[in-house]
Parts: sequence; C-alpha cells; structure tokens
Amino acid sequence: MTRVTFIERDGSRREVEAQPGDRLLDVAQNAGEPLEGTCEGQMACSTCHVIIDAGDFAKLPPAVEEEEDMLDLAAGATRYSRLACQIWLDGIEALTVHIPPESKNMQGR
Ligand code: FES
Repeated sequence: MTRVTFIERDGSRREVEAQPGDRLLDVAQNAGEPLEGTCEGQMACSTCHVIIDAGDFAKLPPAVEEEEDMLDLAAGATRYSRLACQIWLDGIEALTVHIPPESKNMQGR
C-alpha cells in the first residue's frame, strides 16, 4: 500500500491510500484532483503533469525520453515534474505529490 499525499494549489493536503500497481493518475482522479489525463496515458497531452516532492523524487524510476519531451511542454514544469500517467505505485511506501498551479490553464474555455 502506498500513502499518497496530494498538496493542493491552495496548500491544503489530501491523503489517500493506493494499492500496489495503481497508477498515480487514476489515484489522483479518484481523489478528485484536477488532472485531466486527456490522452489516457499515451504521453501526448501533459494534462496529467504533477510535481513530485523533492524528497520523494528519487523513489520513482526515471522518466523515459518521451515523457521528458512532454514535460518540456508542460506549463510550470520543474525538475521534479512527472506525468502521473507514467507512474505506477509499486513498492513505494509514501509519496507526496504537488498539483501544479498552472494545469487549470490547459482546459481552455
Ligand atoms: Fe496524457 Fe499523461 S494522460 S500525458
């Protein structure tokens, strides 16, 4: 089981439990976090962009090149940015994930 802590745009925290093998994008969406995940994991949209807590970043396997390329296009990306659709929560006890402030802009109007 993984304890995932989401840090919202307003700084509030929401803690949820994820099962082994769960994908971070699904966990976030089930928790009501505003991640669109428009391309459903095809690494073609970056609307699932999240920022992993600096202290937790090394717990994750490194991003593949396609993911890095998408992150280059994500609004507000940092060196701790990842695509939530590419993260499977296997063997991770706890993970803290920041919801990037800019991701709302991707929805357009
Ligand atoms: Fe589109 Fe992750 S859901 S890149």
